[in-house]
Amino acid sequence: MTHLSPTTGIGIAVFGIGYVGAVSAACLASDGHRVVAVDTNEHKLRLLRDGISPIIEPGLDELISAGVSSGRLRATADAAEAIACSDLSLICVGTPSLPNGGLDLSHVVRVCEHIGAALPGARSFHTVLLRSTILPGTTTNVAVPALERVSGLRAGQDFGVAFCPEFLREGSAVEDYYAGPIVVGGSTDERVLAAVRAINARSQLRIRATDAGVAEMLKYASNAWHATKVVFANEMGTIAKSLGVDGRRVMQMLCEDTRLNISPAYLRPGFAFGGSCLPKDLRALLQIARQNDVSCPMLESAPVSNEMHIRRALEMVCAAGRRRVGFIGLSFKEGTDDLRESPAVDLAERLFGKGYDIRIYDANVSLGRLTGANLAAIESRIPHLAALLSDDAAEVARHGDTLVLAHHEPNGALALRSLRDDQLVIDMTCVPQTHLPASGRYTGLCW
Ligand SMILES: NC(=O)c1ccc[n+]([C@@H]2O[C@H](COP(=O)([O-])OP(=O)(O)OC[C@H]3O[C@@H](n4cnc5c(N)ncnc54)[C@H](O)[C@@H]3O)[C@@H](O)[C@H]2O)c1
Repeated sequence: MTHLSPTTGIGIAVFGIGYVGAVSAACLASDGHRVVAVDTNEHKLRLLRDGISPIIEPGLDELISAGVSSGRLRATADAAEAIACSDLSLICVGTPSLPNGGLDLSHVVRVCEHIGAALPGARSFHTVLLRSTILPGTTTNVAVPALERVSGLRAGQDFGVAFCPEFLREGSAVEDYYAGPIVVGGSTDERVLAAVRAINARSQLRIRATDAGVAEMLKYASNAWHATKVVFANEMGTIAKSLGVDGRRVMQMLCEDTRLNISPAYLRPGFAFGGSCLPKDLRALLQIARQNDVSCPMLESAPVSNEMHIRRALEMVCAAGRRRVGFIGLSFKEGTDDLRESPAVDLAERLFGKGYDIRIYDANVSLGRLTGANLAAIESRIPHLAALLSDDAAEVARHGDTLVLAHHEPNGALALRSLRDDQLVIDMTCVPQTHLPASGRYTGLCW
């Protein structure tokens, strides 16, 4: 596939010359590729033909002007003509909101139909990369069927398809294009990944190959995370101000902690938070915010969401339809015997209340019980659960038709090695599946 070599230019059709498409087309032409920009808007096409950027973006006018002058960037309304001289199509059309908040996919579908109609005339194995932001499942369930239906060809066999999220930001789009945070190739097809490599030859980043669903969700997770950060900083700043504290300084110092604050810590989907600090401190912060008439809906929703997560876990265990439940892990997290506000205790108590036949193993809690260190706490606070504790992880693993994996710890992992085929393990942790034994049936709370 010499025409997709990262070092020589390839033919690229860019569909949609808005913020994403215009920047991509100009940068790709600047990188030496032969780019045809396709749009239904005649005015934008005219501007581009005249070497003028259809959008305001620092540095873009110069790139477009240079691209058009060099002959490497041109514009057309004719999709078939663009495909005929290209190896790769980038779909950059808009995906605006519908009145109900859903996504309007009409432009994506239409452009897939245009590309599909032209695909039989493609000069090589043609790859279609979707860059428009689309919800998980759209590539597989909407784009591919539209391309296949109109072309009469098979995706993965006659042509390639991937979703490659775009992370550029308006106002710094050209800079972001060349220094994006991550390059994702939403496909595992090597021919498609070769195309992704070809257009990202200038990036120092390794291309993350993954399936389209993960790539699609990643874009939404990223934008939701960014929105959450803004709201969190604003709520924190407002509470700080109401207390006469400089919120800018607080957040600046919060960001200086790159071990727990600005880091992957606490960002793995797993079980609910608990323990002696987070619930208590969140309650106190919310109480003082209310006292000062500061409304913090996002922060207020954190305990509500946490409770929902415990309820989801309860529903999962109940839905399994088995009365005998074994718990591996009871304290609020691994490596401690602290049971205060542990979501596992909460879950066990709710199941106990519903009459489930429960056995519990927790290395640290059992040890604490034996040595007496934690005995009083257990017997005074959760005497009904104390009677269910076992020091033998294997015995608990044998007992449960459903096993709740609240901790991933050595004795529990060992005990889970000899599961019966009829047992169901519900993993509340976020241990990668590859670390879990193959026998038995595993399902996760968040996977
Ligand atoms: N704007 C951003 O900063 C940004 C960043 C990352 C991702 N995205 C996503 O990228 C996509 C595009 O965003 P945008 O802001 O560039 O959109 P935009 O509205 O600025 O541009 C979309 C372009 O597509 C054209 N178009 C519509 N139907 C077409 C068709 N059938 N054939 C050819 N062209 C057609 C329109 O005329 C328009 O010029 C969206 O899904 C958006 O969510 C945007």
